[in-house]
Amino acid sequence: MSDNNFILPKDFPELKNDTFLRAARGEEPEHVPVWCMRQAGRYLPEFREIRAGKDFFDTCRSPENCCELTLQPLRRFPFDASIIFSDILVIPQAMGMEVQMLTGKGPTFTDPLKEPEDLQRLRAKVDVSKELDYVFKAITLTRHKIEGKVPLIGFTGAPWTLMSYMIEGGGSTTHSKAKRWLYRHPDSSHMLLKMLADVIVEYLVGQVAAGAQALQVFESHAGILGPVEFREFSLPYLRDIARRVKDRLKEKGQDVPMIVFAKDAHYALEELSESHYEVVSLDWTIDPRSARDRTGGKVSLQGNMDPCALYAPKEQISDTVRKMLEGFGTRGYIANLGHGLYPDMDPENIGAFVDAVHQHSKLLIKQK
Ligand code: CP3
Repeated sequence: MSDNNFILPKDFPELKNDTFLRAARGEEPEHVPVWCMRQAGRYLPEFREIRAGKDFFDTCRSPENCCELTLQPLRRFPFDASIIFSDILVIPQAMGMEVQMLTGKGPTFTDPLKEPEDLQRLRAKVDVSKELDYVFKAITLTRHKIEGKVPLIGFTGAPWTLMSYMIEGGGSTTHSKAKRWLYRHPDSSHMLLKMLADVIVEYLVGQVAAGAQALQVFESHAGILGPVEFREFSLPYLRDIARRVKDRLKEKGQDVPMIVFAKDAHYALEELSESHYEVVSLDWTIDPRSARDRTGGKVSLQGNMDPCALYAPKEQISDTVRKMLEGFGTRGYIANLGHGLYPDMDPENIGAFVDAVHQHSKLLIKQK
């Protein structure tokens, strides 16, 4: 498939900016590091140009395209980290499901799971190194082409979020089809969540072997669950993934920080801070000071400006950023948004956000 076979995950260029990795480990670098979820996205004209006329998942399967899309935002803004261009839905595809990205509709499964018997349609044993090899190649290529400018983050969807897509077949407001399984078929739900967790562990370990320097787990649909369901159907798998990935990496003498982003799971902040992740990423519904109090210095925090605050004039963005930094403090903190950038956002305002984080944090650190 690829002409990249000669690119091996070794001899990567030396890392020049490690502020993100140090903050993830609880340190206070010379400035607060910043990156944005969906920093590679349609808000950039150069992104739209590469994506134009191409199928979304074909783009994901091209290591050259993934590398280029990952690097684009770094050419414009002094971000302190990059995230590999890919998608969480490559896992259901690797398990044998067909997913398309339809314009104006988003991800769409041809034949979603309807009843527990449908689990038999999924591949019992997924050969991750074969099925998701194109992601590993994209990571290795990008690690070389990024020239050590900033660290490269690998990622995955968490089991519950992937399960909900596999049953809903796409976006949903109620997620009632997926939640129906939790209440009606709890055993089959656990079976599916376990299958997903097993694939995810292999996938994350493979991403580090390919060159990822940190890992983020997206539980984007945590907020659809309440605390009781979250404790039964999400948290145990998030914990299990972090523990197994860390054990596997340790055997190979590797160690990378892991980030958990359970969107809208403010009810579970204490539990998330004790779930084996170095960093808990927050959406904008959580007050920075209360997040610090509730996590008690056990983890670094990432987030959490409302992405829509980027629609404000630049001076106001700067003010919002300063308040956010004062709330979180400058140690063990990675600035980000509470969710991804939207396609209609002005790149200039994203630049203003990044500059404000750097400028205000340098001042705050100096004043200490
Ligand atoms: O820059 C980055 O953040 C890295 C790339 C990235 C993408 N998807 C690229 C993408 C990441 C980290 C994701 C994760 C992802 N994908 C999540 C978890 C994060 C979150 O948003 O909560 C989810 C839920 C998905 C599933 C998905 N993929 C959705 C809901 C959509 C949007 C569909 C739409 O029409 O807006 C996608 C498509 C997608 N994935 C885009 C990008 C840049 C936009 C579509 C395109 O490029 O054509």
